Amino acid sequence: MELHAAMRYSCLAPGKRLRPVLCMASAEAVGASRESVIDAACAIEMVHCFSLVHDDLPAIDNDDLRRGVPTLHVKYGEALAILAGDALFALAFQTLAASAQSSDQVVDAVLKLTIASGSNGLVGGEVADVQSEGKAPDADTLEFIHSRKTGALIAASCEIGGILGGGDPSQIQGLKEYGERIGLAFQIADDILNETSTPDQLGKAAGSDRERRKATFPSLYGLEESRRRADRAIEDALSALAEAEIESEMLSELARYAVDRLH
Ligand code: IPE
Ligand code: IPE
Ligand code: MG
Ligand code: MG
Repeated sequence: MELHAAMRYSCLAPGKRLRPVLCMASAEAVGASRESVIDAACAIEMVHCFSLVHDDLPAIDNDDLRRGVPTLHVKYGEALAILAGDALFALAFQTLAASAQSSDQVVDAVLKLTIASGSNGLVGGEVADVQSEGKAPDADTLEFIHSRKTGALIAASCEIGGILGGGDPSQIQGLKEYGERIGLAFQIADDILNETSTPDQLGKAAGSDRERRKATFPSLYGLEESRRRADRAIEDALSALAEAEIESEMLSELARYAVDRLH
């Protein structure tokens, strides 16, 4: 079926898989196996892919390149891109609901993923992003956009790993705070790379935020201060882990990767 081919095209393209890796590392950090949260990890990546497909549409960012290949609407047309995004969103919750953990844990995970995706999370952040185009950004609006369009799903990835991994409430809270901080740092790095890198390196457009007059950290603070703010967010993320007494080499490395990455 062409719809399924379009869904696979988006989801199986070579992305970094940061969110599923964070979910699995978070489960491991509270004593579960990585494999035990594989359904949740896949569900989170599906929500992420849905968001990329819709973010790239002509009505939103109008981008032609994603993960080094033509965007879904360029390859399959706009109607199928909208609908494949919708179907990925539905499949995400179907997949998460089939997780093997207790029904209390699964319902909690579904709730967290729903909230992170919706009008007070990713979708709300995308709306604020679009509505801020062409306007001089202010610090509060920028924080609002970044914490929702990107931070919410990254935080939920960590929190859900903690919930399904059987973590206690303070560990789950620590993972959520860690995720919020690296989510902010990750989006600051995305803003910086859009300014400083190339489409070849990124596998997606560069220079486009400036062209569309997007609200970004470099546009408000400049590159140097943006880098400092990303580094500070990483320090805060590591403090959140330490406060919750979570020791995880993997989560520490992923925090650094969120800002040191080259694409
Ligand atoms: C891109 O996310 C969109 C943002 C939230 C910045 P990623 O940089 O994680 O994209 P992939 O999954 O590696 O393609
Ligand atoms: C990232 O938006 C957030 C979502 C896709 C939900 P951006 O528009 O900043 O990300 P890229 O640069 O297109 O990957
Ligand atoms: Mg966008
Ligand atoms: Mg975009």
